Amino acid sequence: MIQKIEKISGINGELILPGDKSISHRAVMFSAMANGKSVVNNYLNSEDVNSTIDCFRKLGCKIEQNETDLTIFGKGINGFTKPNSPLNAGNSGTTTRLISGILAAQNFEATIIGDASLSKRPMKRVVEPLSKMGAKITTSEIGSLPMVISHSKELKAIEYNMQVDSAQVKSAILLAGLHLEEETIVIEHSRTRNHTETLLGLKVEEFDGMRRIYSSVKNYPKPNLYIVPCDISTAAFFIVLALISENSKLILKNVLLNETRNGIIKILQKMNGRIEIENEKENNGEKIADLRIFSSKLKNIEIDDEIIPNIIDEIPILSVAGLFADGKFNIRNAKELRFKESDRIEALCSNFKKLGVVTEEFDDGFSLSGNAINVNVLLESFKDHRIAMAFAVLGMLIGKEISINDFESVAVSNPKFLDQINSIKLA
Ligand code: S3P
Repeated sequence: MIQKIEKISGINGELILPGDKSISHRAVMFSAMANGKSVVNNYLNSEDVNSTIDCFRKLGCKIEQNETDLTIFGKGINGFTKPNSPLNAGNSGTTTRLISGILAAQNFEATIIGDASLSKRPMKRVVEPLSKMGAKITTSEIGSLPMVISHSKELKAIEYNMQVDSAQVKSAILLAGLHLEEETIVIEHSRTRNHTETLLGLKVEEFDGMRRIYSSVKNYPKPNLYIVPCDISTAAFFIVLALISENSKLILKNVLLNETRNGIIKILQKMNGRIEIENEKENNGEKIADLRIFSSKLKNIEIDDEIIPNIIDEIPILSVAGLFADGKFNIRNAKELRFKESDRIEALCSNFKKLGVVTEEFDDGFSLSGNAINVNVLLESFKDHRIAMAFAVLGMLIGKEISINDFESVAVSNPKFLDQINSIKLA
């Protein structure tokens, strides 16, 4: 579907955005693993999380679902049953990689498939450590889906040095480790999102800027009540829109402010963005707060290498903010962007070029200067939700008859994106 994007004159209002995607996936998985009834409040009802829900239904788990809440009747350790058809992870890398760790410890064979985009994404990064644990896994010739995970009787604990900065890979190993008496240890050199550790209460030791994370059957999930904070990655689109459009004021309630995810707020504040944080509290060990955002005149800053894993999903919308900020926007050391729902470096650069922005592409990033000068441009979403929403925000700021193709891909993380914008935009 081609979506025409209209210019807006500003926004004013308050939003309670849907639940965080990373936490929603994990809440479903840990509830399904636990022995008994769990409840997940404010889960993200989107295509990605529904892929996780469908996979666990296929593994024999009963899940009751309404618009905002889930009731999950978990199966307990060794309680899942062999699925009678492949598990379809849709577009979701998190579903695929995290579930592979759980499946590595089951006593049956299962196959994971996905859509065209997911079927191109690298899976060797999970196959390699899980195989070291003794899992039997095959992939396509290029190391991607379909992935067949067979019964392995000899799963064993390992100590593993992370090779890529990936919370999904880290989580896959830790989730397999939950099925073993002996401790599995993951050593992380860069700080990636820590929801698996936080929600499961895993032991984490910090030393020399690294972390040793321990998991064993002692941490196997128990039935729980999960209250999912609002997604900071979704919030980022609205924050940038409010900062850049004139006369805007926006309140976002109960936003996740986990310190491995709040880099986007810190960077935008450093860029002179007026973002006020109030009513800080905690749910399930996760920090949340309300945000007040006001129109601001932004300036570009140097973005440190260490913060990249913390902002990896927000780089598309951060680059839109960078385009409107004084000075040149430059992002490097972000090669992981090439392995997301699309090759996001290529996707961003090709759209910025179409708009007439001076764009330089690097293997691990890109830079932007000048303005979006072209009129009547059809941009490509690359069927990637974050690319679609980033350029929608850009279109709302500049007007100029911008359209975006395959816009329905926003449903992967926020099916109500345009309704939310309509509810706060100034007439
Ligand atoms: C996620 C981890 C990140 C992120 C993805 C969600 C997670 O991926 O990009 O959207 O929930 O663990 P990587 O682990 O591949 O960096």
